[in-house]
Amino acid sequence: MSELQGRRLLLCVGGGIAAYKACEVARLFAKAGAELRCAMTPAAQRFVAPLTFQALTGRAPATDLFDAAQELAAGHIALADSAEFVIVAPTTADLLARLRGGFADDVVTATLLAIPPARWLLAPAMNEKMWASPAVQENLATLIARGANIVGPGVGEMAERAHVGPGRMAEASEIVAAACALVARLPETPRIVDALATGSVAAAPHLIEQRAWDLEGVPVLVTAGPTREHLDPVRFLSNPSTGRMGFALAQAARDRGARVLLVAGATEIEPPAGVEFVRAESAAEMASVVDVRAGEMRAIVMAAAVSDQRPAERASHKVKKPDGDELLRLVRTPDILAGLGARYAQATPRPLLVGFAAETEHLEEHAREKLARKQLDLIVANDVSAAGQGFAAKDNRVVVLGRDGSRVELGGPKLAVADGIWDLVASRLSRE
Ligand code: C5P
Repeated sequence: MSELQGRRLLLCVGGGIAAYKACEVARLFAKAGAELRCAMTPAAQRFVAPLTFQALTGRAPATDLFDAAQELAAGHIALADSAEFVIVAPTTADLLARLRGGFADDVVTATLLAIPPARWLLAPAMNEKMWASPAVQENLATLIARGANIVGPGVGEMAERAHVGPGRMAEASEIVAAACALVARLPETPRIVDALATGSVAAAPHLIEQRAWDLEGVPVLVTAGPTREHLDPVRFLSNPSTGRMGFALAQAARDRGARVLLVAGATEIEPPAGVEFVRAESAAEMASVVDVRAGEMRAIVMAAAVSDQRPAERASHKVKKPDGDELLRLVRTPDILAGLGARYAQATPRPLLVGFAAETEHLEEHAREKLARKQLDLIVANDVSAAGQGFAAKDNRVVVLGRDGSRVELGGPKLAVADGIWDLVASRLSRE
């Protein structure tokens, strides 16, 4: 766990019986070399004494929002500013509700309010019947949509011995492993920038190059790859898309802090880690996933090569070869993007819509027509007839046209092109 060495973590302890397990979490973080501070709700202090955390971390935990001495020494805002990442263990049903509501009536909630949810790792713990309640599930879904990360709960025996089910707090080692994976994704810490400013670290370019972190917690949807429209279980209509451009977009968004839902057709390459991945084989399947999830998103980038048509019939068994030629009747698939354009044309707030136009001639003219017809914010025009770009290639060269009349050329590896596209999306989102 040396990844946690020197990372500034805050452990917030909620008031549930699982608070005793938070002692082990604190011990493991301290052992991994993290600079750990703790904060406790009043209820947590009824389960475990603050002195226990002081002994484990070497610093007195923050316990009282209204204690003049504590606020003077390091107030809750200073505590929030100093933390790169927060672990809330246990997250009780009550704490979940107060975090959703934006309450700030104790040192834990007040501090968390000053830290973006994408930097929270919540470890819920409660009785399985409480866990199953619509209120808890709704609070959890809202916090996830705001960017919060969740570990557990596990299934197992509850404190009330007769009860078994989901609600048991994740084990301390699982919480630390999850925190470790999430902290590894954070951009370079200001600690390094501070050190550079004071001249105590040699100015290596890779240390001062700050990655854009402008999509922190922003929910985005990316589609990728080809769809398959089956005639029967072994034959389909498709296209040569590999999904590389869409996967690069998902990866680039993830690296800027976004919460990414990646919906992909039949691709062979590995999807990037750390994104929610949903497989959708046909245009109809892709349409249903996108339609259901679109409402949660702030940006939707449709890089998938969606088949425009599908066979009118799909046989459930392999169709026997006819003796001679045969005609295949095709019907239109739903235009997913045009559907979103129409659905959000008059709506506010609406997700920013980005389409792709793969063209072999009159690139910009055709792309501009699609931008207007599908009611998009941006369209990425891609000449797929040019050698070394487009389908399957590692590099790409595109022109991005905006409904505001903007025109930007991007070229290079697909990941760099993806970053250029997110630059345009992020600057538009920040103006909303
Ligand atoms: O009209 P055309 O297929 O060139 O439009 C391409 C754009 O529209 C891409 O962003 C693609 O993902 C999207 N599209 C769609 N549904 C379809 C066809 C295309 O969303 N049925």
